[in-house]
Amino acid sequence: MPKSLRDEIEKLREEIRRHEHLYYVKNEPEISDAEFDRLMRRLAGLERDHPELASPDSPTARVGGAPALEFPTVRHSIPMLSLDNTYSIEELADWDRRARELAGRESLDYVAELKLDGLSISLLYEDGRLARGVTRGDGIEGEEVTANVKTIRSVPLRIAPDKLRPIGSPRRFEVRGEVLMTLASFRQANADREAAGEPRFANPRNAAAGTMRQLDPKIVAARRLDLFLYFLFVDGRVPFPKHSEALAALAHLGFKVNPHYRVVHSLEGLKDYLAEFETRRDKLDYEIDGIVVKVNDTRLWDELGSTAKSPRWAIAYKYPARQATTRVLDIRAQVGRTGTLTPVADLEPVDVGGVTVSHATLHNMDEIERLKLNIGDTILLQRAGEVIPQVVKVVRSAPDGRPFHMPSRCPVCGGDVRRAPGEVAYRCVNAACPAQLKESLLHFAARRAMDIDGLGEALVDQLVDKGLVRDAADLYRLTRDQLAGLDRMAQKSAQNLLDQIEASKKAGLARLLFALGIRYVGERTAQFLAAHFASLDRIAQASLDELCEVEEVGPKIASSLADFFAEKRNRALLEKLRRAGLPLEQHAARPPAGKLRGRRLVLTGALSTLSRAEAARLIEQAGGRVTSSVSAETDFVVVGAEPGAKLRKARALGIPTLNETELLNLLK
Ligand code: IVH
Repeated sequence: MPKSLRDEIEKLREEIRRHEHLYYVKNEPEISDAEFDRLMRRLAGLERDHPELASPDSPTARVGGAPALEFPTVRHSIPMLSLDNTYSIEELADWDRRARELAGRESLDYVAELKLDGLSISLLYEDGRLARGVTRGDGIEGEEVTANVKTIRSVPLRIAPDKLRPIGSPRRFEVRGEVLMTLASFRQANADREAAGEPRFANPRNAAAGTMRQLDPKIVAARRLDLFLYFLFVDGRVPFPKHSEALAALAHLGFKVNPHYRVVHSLEGLKDYLAEFETRRDKLDYEIDGIVVKVNDTRLWDELGSTAKSPRWAIAYKYPARQATTRVLDIRAQVGRTGTLTPVADLEPVDVGGVTVSHATLHNMDEIERLKLNIGDTILLQRAGEVIPQVVKVVRSAPDGRPFHMPSRCPVCGGDVRRAPGEVAYRCVNAACPAQLKESLLHFAARRAMDIDGLGEALVDQLVDKGLVRDAADLYRLTRDQLAGLDRMAQKSAQNLLDQIEASKKAGLARLLFALGIRYVGERTAQFLAAHFASLDRIAQASLDELCEVEEVGPKIASSLADFFAEKRNRALLEKLRRAGLPLEQHAARPPAGKLRGRRLVLTGALSTLSRAEAARLIEQAGGRVTSSVSAETDFVVVGAEPGAKLRKARALGIPTLNETELLNLLK
């Protein structure tokens, strides 16, 4: 075994670990998803060709292995205690007073942290490697879920020896924290479950807990859990005199530590912190249900001790649940972008944690059946996780309650409503339904799509109702006079809107693809597709197999793409967009390096880390051309596994060949 290959693999792993940390822990990626993907595939290819160099802590080993049959039970080295709860400032003040009395101190410093709404977990590291992950269980024993923990991308599988030095380079250490599901992942998970005809998760905590109990790590990986750490133990003790120092050390080790913790010097500081986050919690991308207060001086932890269940040196302050009861006045079907009819409850307006709520989504008919909900019933409403409030349960059935039935005709266009076999959703099948058009225009203009800020609901309604816009491409033909003729639209705002529409032409391929609103094609998938194919036409022409070569694209997304581009109306839309001046190609961010300028290359056989489309794109970026047949004009033939007649022809003509590594080196 040449030493250089071992070195190359280890260097590649180190580089990937660095980018994982930048992306998943620090939220500061330095490279694009597609570039990261390429590094991963390169490593996977090398490991596949040299299985003797594979390693369980390689970044490629996050998702692997067959589903488990069950989780072994493991005893915790130190019990995983719970926290006592307080629900008012008075109770918190009592706790502060008692803690100071017990510690014999006039004042105590505290660390205030967010109380993350997930499930707690313990990770054991041995020789710098993640050895074991165990759920809290009953606090004494938990379930060993190591394979599932490894799928969490922010969790380091390996920690370099120099990073371990500040904590005394221990052979073993333990970290503890909270596994959670972000709101974005939660919404995605529920959308997937709904599409698969499975029941929705009630909230992100249930979703995270249910996912951690999954026996198949592949399913866990797809759900994108996250983990914030808040304890570090070496030999059963915190190796720092202050908890805040331990948190800083955890971050230095490469763990994700919630950035919102704060050292405060008194009860006053705690009050400020909890008031501040009661407001800020709405802006977080994960749920919290309160704050946790810990005595900062860890030497006092032993002195203060614990009761059977919880320590005296820490306490939780729980925010009041954002729930309220109200009456369901009516239930209507609302038509969405893909024609889905979603039942929505009109409510007697009620204040829920400072927000007046008059509508709640009921998701689908299954949900209404599960709730046994009738019009007129009194319900418990909750604002949690999702922007739109949820109905938790019926608290009082109305004696004269009316059941809701899904209409058989679309409430907007009168088109047929159907339920596809195996699906929960009812859909309006009229592709020209104005409700769908309006929703799809709003999606097209959304910030993360084409970002046409001035194009809101009121305007879209008018544009569609007046027949000025029949599809997204029509937006690019609007004139100032047409716009100025609309309600509440001055010449100046008309011009602003036109400027924004014009500027949106530069949004780029990934955003445009996302903006088209193809089912299952979210922002991330659109980015992968754009990076892979670099052209909308190529995506439209790609076979299902070619589409499935793209990261995170499986048969479901591939057929949704194929269906979309098979539709005549959609192909016409692309043409209109092209004629309107939107680039349907991706232009390389950097100018081509030109290393292959003017060269003709032919690809034969399967490459291990690059797809053909990617190889072609890289070659083109470097100024080269990929042609399909070998001739005397050909400069190089790139040879993968099981090459065909092209290799024989190249040999016959004496044309130089390149293997994949040589090609990549050439492109570097
Ligand atoms: S400390 C012995 N810190 O809340 C101390 N727990 O109600 C126990 N939790 O079981 C844990 N955020 O699952 C701590 N910043 C935080 C937390 C936190 C959420 C959870 C944890 C714990 C539960 C207790």
